[in-house]
Amino acid sequence: MGKDASSPDGTPPLEKGGQGGIASSSGASFKKNDPHPEFLRKIPTSPLQGEVRIGDALVCGATLLSQSETPLLDARILLKHILAIDDAALIARARETLTPEQVEHYNALLARRAGCEPVAYITGTKEFWSLDFKVTSDVLIPRDDSGALIEAVLARRNRNEALRIADLGTGSGCLLCALLSEFPASEGVGIDCSPAAVSIARANANMLGLSARAQFIEGDWLAPASGTFDVIIANPPYIPLGDRDSLALDVAAFEPAGALFAGADGFDAYRQILAQAPDRLAGDGLMIMECGPDQADSLALMLRGMAGAAEPFTMRDLAGRPRGAGFDRRNADKSLQKRD
Ligand SMILES: C[S@@+](CC[C@H](N)C(=O)[O-])C[C@H]1O[C@@H](n2cnc3c(N)ncnc32)[C@H](O)[C@@H]1O
Repeated sequence: MGKDASSPDGTPPLEKGGQGGIASSSGASFKKNDPHPEFLRKIPTSPLQGEVRIGDALVCGATLLSQSETPLLDARILLKHILAIDDAALIARARETLTPEQVEHYNALLARRAGCEPVAYITGTKEFWSLDFKVTSDVLIPRDDSGALIEAVLARRNRNEALRIADLGTGSGCLLCALLSEFPASEGVGIDCSPAAVSIARANANMLGLSARAQFIEGDWLAPASGTFDVIIANPPYIPLGDRDSLALDVAAFEPAGALFAGADGFDAYRQILAQAPDRLAGDGLMIMECGPDQADSLALMLRGMAGAAEPFTMRDLAGRPRGAGFDRRNADKSLQKRD
């Protein structure tokens, strides 16, 4: 997986062999929040000193992050974060000098990034579907590729419909909030087994002015929610446990394991969700789940086997790779609907 598949802010993809972050050449493991030894050796204790212009800070920062797949981008995001300015202001103010406090702050953030911490955890925010989400290491960093899931719903439902949506494994709440921003008459429930994730998702919905239509509950997939849903979406953990060592270091060492791994074959979460879903999807409901690029056909097969499923479809991500599967009972082939 090359740079092209990583998100515009360098967030690495989740799948095996995914780079886009800082990749290990040694394969050495390291503990969460510990800088990777390969990079510790390369980080001067005080990379930038004295009077530093913003433009020079950008170039020096990128040089210090040369092990990243996206050094200039990383340095730019960190500098913008410290100065609380946008891209245009960064260029316009390139010849201004940073204060000593700003230099110190920048050095500290560069050291964290050089230690493999994802940029989104350092800045505490990640944009998804043109909305800003608060993120901490308690939640998966939203990936641009998950936009395929939002597009798949938009392609099958009208914006003015009043839908009841369930988002299973809501994490930061990014998928539910993105859908509610597109379907202004709809409401939804985001469920996650992590209490920390539930509180971050709630804060995000609040920040985006969506809390009146978004409820967040702690629990096991659909179990804590009542009633049926017109749309069920899920981006559950789907990485096989054995793939851990081949993930980008940024992912393996910093993102929550409970958001990544799903048993020996990566399908445990799908099995659990599909066991709960048949009674909880409305008669003309739509169900869509994200998966890894090499899992879409198997997931479509599993969906086919679900009681009351319609003919499955698969969806593709920004790079054109298979990224999920689902089915839509509305206008579906009646013969398949009768399966149980
Ligand atoms: C891959 S992350 C997806 C987060 C978010 N929906 C996104 O797309 O960025 C999967 C999420 O599922 C949650 N999860 C794992 N097992 C769960 C379970 N049994 N019930 C509910 N949520 C679960 C994790 O805590 C994590 O937040």
